[in-house]
Amino acid sequence: MRETTTPYTLHNRSSECRARRGHVTTRQGTIQTPVFMPVGTQATVKAVTPENLYEMNAEIILGNTYHLFIRPGHELIERFGGLHKFMNWKGSILTDSGGFQIFSLKDLAKITEEGASFRSHVDGAKLFLSPEIAVQVQQSLGSDIMMCLDTCIPYPATKDEVIKSTALTTRWAQRCREAHTSREQLLFGIVQGGMHEELRKMHIEQLMEIGFDGYAIGGLSVGEEPQMMYDIAEATTPHMPENYARYLMGVGTPQDLVEGVWRGIDMFDCVMPTRNARNGMLFTSNGRLVIKNSRYRDDMRPLDENCSCYTCRNYSRAYLRHLYASREILSYHLNTIHNLHYYLTLMADIRKAIEEDNFAAFRNDFYGRLQGE
Ligand code: GUN
Ligand code: ZN
Repeated sequence: MRETTTPYTLHNRSSECRARRGHVTTRQGTIQTPVFMPVGTQATVKAVTPENLYEMNAEIILGNTYHLFIRPGHELIERFGGLHKFMNWKGSILTDSGGFQIFSLKDLAKITEEGASFRSHVDGAKLFLSPEIAVQVQQSLGSDIMMCLDTCIPYPATKDEVIKSTALTTRWAQRCREAHTSREQLLFGIVQGGMHEELRKMHIEQLMEIGFDGYAIGGLSVGEEPQMMYDIAEATTPHMPENYARYLMGVGTPQDLVEGVWRGIDMFDCVMPTRNARNGMLFTSNGRLVIKNSRYRDDMRPLDENCSCYTCRNYSRAYLRHLYASREILSYHLNTIHNLHYYLTLMADIRKAIEEDNFAAFRNDFYGRLQGE
């Protein structure tokens, strides 16, 4: 293999598992890894401001090509100087390609060799996304990390379907690579291959042959049991290049993050902390807390005695229960601050544990505390 500098720098490796501590360098700055990326689908991380995100030390957020392409349109965002300026976010941005959204549209999207035809979920207009268009849109948005347009495979699927779909993803990845002209933006490939370990290995080899700035594992957390996802991640990471970042897309629960890091993953994203916050489901060091529960009616304690977030420093469970029950807008804001703080602090603690090479003890303690409540 050629000796080149890559956007990923390894600091140290765990002696107990495949976990690794490092950083990713984008044109916008440095991202300490392993990292969790809050999801900001429509040019906003729902219910919080960039200042809230800086306060919880978020270094990178995720945006969605599909949504921004439909509304307000990438040309408009480009006229404002790109997505960072448009939404006033000074950290890094990774944009997903739209592959997963098209997959979610199921029968509403038609996939051909050329690309994907679908109807806008906003006004029903006919739209088309090809690998070239997905890269052009992401170049207009000016994200720091772009993702290849891929085809995410449903679960369950026949092996023949998985083989065909994965082969198409390889051809699309090659086209994305060729369409990528803005070299200061990074482009990551996405490994598919369904739940077949040998297809995962074959696909990562094909993507490495094309050559990307980082490699993601897609097509997981699509309805399979968590253990199956862990097994696929476990079987895939050994074939991924050591000197590039590894990103597990759309994952997951706090447990999934711990188990993903254990198996050598560096980056994660998921709507879970933000979406669950708006549904009144809060993550604490002792497990999940459902704020609408009547047991919190008179509870003067913060959500989590061990949390230093703005919400926990200032508000009681009783007040948060009242806001939720009254459907007050502030409920979304305060709950989202807490849940994102929980996820980002979990990742900071994981990074520290890897640095000190006691991640196995950290993991035991993590599971021990979940039994608490
Ligand atoms: N988000 C979660 N899974 C996937 C995937 O397989 N592909 C893409 N593009 N995004 C995802
Ligand atoms: Zn908190």
